Amino acid sequence: MPARSTVILGTGAYAPERVLTNHDLSRLVDTSDEWIRARSGIRERRIAAADEATSDMAVHAGRRALADAGAVASEIDLLIVATVTPDHPMPATACIVQHRLGVPTQAACFDLNAACSGFIYGLDIACAMLGSGRHKKALVIGAEKLSSIVDWKDRGTCLLFGDGAGAVVVGMSAKPGIGLIGTRLGALGENTGLLQIPAGGSRTPTSPKSIARGDHFIKMKGKEVFKLAVRLMEEAARDILEQHGLAANQIGLVIPHQANLRIIEAIAQYLELPVDRFFVNVDRYGNTSSASIPIALDEARLTGRIKPGELTLLVAFGAGLTYGSALIRW
Ligand SMILES: CC(C)(COP(=O)(O)OP(=O)(O)OC[C@H]1O[C@@H](n2cnc3c(N)ncnc32)[C@H](O)[C@@H]1OP(=O)(O)O)[C@@H](O)C(=O)NCCC(=O)NCCS
Repeated sequence: MPARSTVILGTGAYAPERVLTNHDLSRLVDTSDEWIRARSGIRERRIAAADEATSDMAVHAGRRALADAGAVASEIDLLIVATVTPDHPMPATACIVQHRLGVPTQAACFDLNAACSGFIYGLDIACAMLGSGRHKKALVIGAEKLSSIVDWKDRGTCLLFGDGAGAVVVGMSAKPGIGLIGTRLGALGENTGLLQIPAGGSRTPTSPKSIARGDHFIKMKGKEVFKLAVRLMEEAARDILEQHGLAANQIGLVIPHQANLRIIEAIAQYLELPVDRFFVNVDRYGNTSSASIPIALDEARLTGRIKPGELTLLVAFGAGLTYGSALIRW
């Protein structure tokens, strides 16, 4: 039987309507547009409506990806939602999305928490499950309502995050040499304390005390995360290139996790690539965690930044600290 490859058949994204600018933020906390732009490259982010949950955004992005792929929900037999902001701790947001989209009951549906690396983890799992032959077509979604877990009084974190969703349809192709060529996943579990929501899980269930401490919000040691982010993303990029005998300059476009423009610039410098080889939209969305790469991927395709035959490198890091990279030939 000829070798078959896993390919991205379509992409889709959704961003909520409401724009929160740096000027808006400077009315909430002691900060300024100049400071935020200089330290992060972010100008504005999108914020979901009060009655808009992660699944609502996931459904929009999923529908758009299905339409782009020329596929229908009844073909999907695997649905993965990467998120750290599920609608509820239980059940999985993927099951809510399944029902809303009309994905068949025979489909495997689950959420995945690898924080900002969640989409790359999801892509890798989808490819493995499709490659096994037990599944035929997957919908992989990254969706987040980070505004619901951000402490809007903490100027060290609230500037960074935003809401949104991105999705891809993954299928098999008989065409050789295209599609998902490889992935490299990992985690540095000794650093779980650098970026976390301390309460609301089994270690510290939500209580009046935990709420008074603000422990149901994101807590982050920004400087330490910054340094590890650069190191881990550079490592994940180098490793996957080496595994496939490629030099960095053979990559047509790098789509990095959109956390901070300075992190992206540092990686470009270490990989000795011009910054314009990196797709950047962090200025408009901030960090949307697992939605960041699929939103960027969709925009990169729509704006013609991805060309047939070229290689795209996805690279991310996130709470955990998880990290990952993926190589795709179009
Ligand atoms: C959060 C981040 C932008 C802060 O930038 P930084 O250059 O590290 O800034 P620092 O935290 O060292 O703060 C420098 C100064 O600015 C102040 N400051 C912090 N946030 C501020 C804000 N929003 N506005 C104005 N001043 C601020 C600090 O109080 C500090 O003042 P001091 O020197 O008097 O103590 C940066 O650390 C970062 O992006 N880290 C990575 C975060 C990340 O990517 N997380 C997601 C992982 S998926």
